[in-house]
Amino acid sequence: MRRLTTALCAATAALTLSGPLMAATQEELIELGRAVYHDKTRGNCISCHNINDPIANLPGNQGPMMIAMKQRFPDKHKLRAQVWDATVANPLSIMPPIGKHWILSEDEIDAVVEYIYQY
Ligand code: HEC
Repeated sequence: MRRLTTALCAATAALTLSGPLMAATQEELIELGRAVYHDKTRGNCISCHNINDPIANLPGNQGPMMIAMKQRFPDKHKLRAQVWDATVANPLSIMPPIGKHWILSEDEIDAVVEYIYQY
């Protein structure tokens, strides 16, 4: 019991200490999402989805433009689910299942969702 208590205390302390360090600000999250979205070696979303951002380079149009996201996805969780695995909504989707296939980490998916949710 004593050992368990010690372990729990250590875990709590570790969480408390790491909390503020791990918590990214909203701006940092959006910057990460922006980098991932446009990076040809990461999300590469830009190769299929145009977005009204001046850094967009050679945008593709195989998928819809990222526009009016809040209106079209009032529930942000549904938007995240779409990015995580597009084949749920459309089994024949050519969009890679970003989360299911570990193309991006969960954190990177959160970041990319925050980024596109501004448009
Ligand atoms: C190979 C092309 C391709 C890539 C890469 C791709 N997508 Fe898609 N995406 C599509 C297509 C095509 C659709 C249209 C729906 C479908 O067929 O599944 C779509 C649909 C979507 C939708 C739903 C849009 C709507 O209007 O309903 C979102 C959001 C989305 N993609 C985000 C992303 C993000 C974020 C990335 C990068 C992490 C990404 N996509 C990468 C092709 C792609």
